[in-house]
Amino acid sequence: MQNILIETTLALLYKDSKNDYLRMMKGAAKSIFRPMQPSDFKDAYLSISKDQGRGLVDLIKTNDSKNIVEFGTSFGISTLFLAQGVRGTGGSIITTELIESKAKKAIENFKSAGVNDLVEIRIGDAMETLGNHHTSIDLLLLDGWKDLYLPLFQMLESNYHANTIIYVDNADMKESQAFLKIVSQKNRYNLESKFGGKVVLITKK
Ligand SMILES: C[S@@+](CC[C@H](N)C(=O)[O-])C[C@H]1O[C@@H](n2cnc3c(N)ncnc32)[C@H](O)[C@@H]1O
Repeated sequence: MQNILIETTLALLYKDSKNDYLRMMKGAAKSIFRPMQPSDFKDAYLSISKDQGRGLVDLIKTNDSKNIVEFGTSFGISTLFLAQGVRGTGGSIITTELIESKAKKAIENFKSAGVNDLVEIRIGDAMETLGNHHTSIDLLLLDGWKDLYLPLFQMLESNYHANTIIYVDNADMKESQAFLKIVSQKNRYNLESKFGGKVVLITKK
């Protein structure tokens, strides 16, 4: 029953996100004369795919991940998959979103899906909202603005343990590639490509 609510909410959100291309174009048009800003995409989901979501659920269950941190909530699609995963492991999620209107919509979606007790959402810049995070992380999902992947990864690094997984979405983007190059040069991490390079999983050697 509980997972049916998640599935139903996800189905509605994916249906609505079908217009994302237009929303993204609208956002991109605003940034013709200046750098893109997250607020340009305040109406766009920019979500992970259903296959990625199902893969995340499996990843969480297989690794018995309990302490999940997510950078980039948007309207909460990825968070709902994370919630489905932690429902099987007894874990919980901290997720963070810069745009308040998106975070508020995400909270409504968590309530509709019956998972708001599993999710703590922090509204604001992830570098601040996660600045005081000193709890062990089992899975970190990086899916916010790519220029923050490196500083955020480094800021949270002391919370990684031997089995921590860092899930990097949009790994094929230019800024993500620069981040992954730096991580691979550290010689302390394994990088595994998934979904044709869209995703990279980082684990400790
Ligand atoms: C690709 S979307 C996230 C999609 C979501 N993970 C999903 O799959 O449903 C990236 C989100 O990161 C948010 N974001 C960008 N910069 C941020 C920051 N500094 N702190 C927190 N969130 C940020 C954006 O507003 C945007 O909603």
